[in-house]
Amino acid sequence: MNLKDLYINFFKGKDHKQIPSAPVVPENDPSVLFNTAGMQPLIPYLMGQTHPYGTRLCDYQKCIRTNDLDSVGDITHHTFFEMLGNWSLGDYFKQESIEWSFEFLTEHLNIPVEKLAVTVFAGNDLIPFDQESYDKWISLGIPEERIARTVEDNFWIAGETGPCGPDTEIFYFRSTDEIPQEFDPEDDRWVEIWNNVFMQFNKDKEGNITELPSKNVDTGMGVERTTAILEGVNDNYESSIWKDVIELISEISGVPYEDNKKSMRIIADHIRTAVFVSADPAGIKPSNTDQGYILRRLIRRAIRHAKNLGIDVNSDWEERIAKLIVDKYKNYYVEIENNENVVYEVLRNEKIKFNRTLEKGLREFEKVTRNNEDLDGQTAFRLFDTYGFPIELTVELASEKGLKVDEAGFMEKYKEHQEKSRTASAGKFKGGLAGDGEIETKYHTCTHLLNAALKVVVGEDVHQKGSNITSERLRFDFSCDHKLTDEEKAKTEALVNEWIQAGLEVRVEEMSKEEAIKTGAECMFIEKYPDIVTVYFIGEVSKELCGGPHVANTSELGTFRIKKEEASSAGVRRIKGVLE
Ligand code: ALA
Repeated sequence: MNLKDLYINFFKGKDHKQIPSAPVVPENDPSVLFNTAGMQPLIPYLMGQTHPYGTRLCDYQKCIRTNDLDSVGDITHHTFFEMLGNWSLGDYFKQESIEWSFEFLTEHLNIPVEKLAVTVFAGNDLIPFDQESYDKWISLGIPEERIARTVEDNFWIAGETGPCGPDTEIFYFRSTDEIPQEFDPEDDRWVEIWNNVFMQFNKDKEGNITELPSKNVDTGMGVERTTAILEGVNDNYESSIWKDVIELISEISGVPYEDNKKSMRIIADHIRTAVFVSADPAGIKPSNTDQGYILRRLIRRAIRHAKNLGIDVNSDWEERIAKLIVDKYKNYYVEIENNENVVYEVLRNEKIKFNRTLEKGLREFEKVTRNNEDLDGQTAFRLFDTYGFPIELTVELASEKGLKVDEAGFMEKYKEHQEKSRTASAGKFKGGLAGDGEIETKYHTCTHLLNAALKVVVGEDVHQKGSNITSERLRFDFSCDHKLTDEEKAKTEALVNEWIQAGLEVRVEEMSKEEAIKTGAECMFIEKYPDIVTVYFIGEVSKELCGGPHVANTSELGTFRIKKEEASSAGVRRIKGVLE
């Protein structure tokens, strides 16, 4: 049995219910692009909401972390990984949590106690030393010198705010060296395999720490790392999770892993993440914003490394690799099976797009670096804008030549450009969308819903004639030959609220202007838009050409009220509305 199945079976035996993995793109949390830990989808329940499955849960959760993209290529870093977790929502606490972790590791994974060490929370001004966890570990046979006490590393929180608490981390000695008597968490032969967080606090924006309604347990164990340990390999990519993927890349490229480790690891890792992102129910497509941009960067970086290995990047290499990954995971994740063809299509389209400019871009890169001078922001931006080179690709290419790139300078140019294209492609909001604050963003999405609702209630002839948004209200001008009746107003308001309550997903797609017109997307002055446009889809109810920004889900909007309906000019009516 593999690690995932062993783990789930074990915790089911301890009365836990298995919950399905949440999508990689969080469903109701626009503050993060991807789930980065098993606990993320469970935040409302850790905060006190009742979970339909009860108080003991376990799962394997798909996670994506892109903060250290540069490190991918070494033996342990991955952008996508699976995290095993078990939770107590106000049920058991430190005693059982530690006991079961120990039992699972030593009796089910058969790890010798001598190879284990732990850390516990040392205590600070607010929270005392975790004597209970310390005593528990001693009672289980972990010797004193294998228990380290730290403060920073033993307090866990997902980001800046939210449920948090002291933790105890379990380490494994991953080396054939003689095991030192004393455990030193800084010695990297000791690797962390499991983290048990005792979540009993909440941290707010001001940094205040308060008690949660119940004492919870949140744990996390990385599948990739633990599998490698159990199989006795040092390099994660030599474990059963990756071995066949690496072999396939080696077969396709005709070169051995031994001499091409970094590129092969990057290709394997990035294609796997691209498979999971593009198969996600959120329907992410490569683009220049948010999750879509991460997806684009991963695919493009994989393509560049494939080229490095001498792979014919126009062949179906990426689909062959993706297929192997799909086959490995489809029994665990139904969306991988269901969206298999979407995955191949996303990869293929992005490959075709990038291949058009890659060759030229690489030539240009050679040209601009022929004097072996560092690259300025303007040049890096040109490589991005003209040849589609994401910044880290340029940085990577430069570093291979020992050169640096002015990344801050690039960001400045990039932002300037974003600003310009936003105003250009969202011509209708020119001067209208005063700020990109949270509330303006909500009004912006609400405007799309209002436009769609008017078409249903008043008629297909309704078209947008103008829009203006402040943090106080939206103002929407539309073609209409009569003053709206009270009934029409009430129906429009009700329909918008129905869509808000339905929690519709807002999705963005990049496409050519022609394609956009074909989808029937709404837009005001088609001739004002660039050749490649972004189309925002809200559930099945609205599609509009627009530069954004928008909320991720309509459930964030609150309640919509029409405050005023009046004439604007001949044949044009105006609605002012608010979100409460
Ligand atoms: N949430 C904890 C972690 O990710 C378990 O380490």
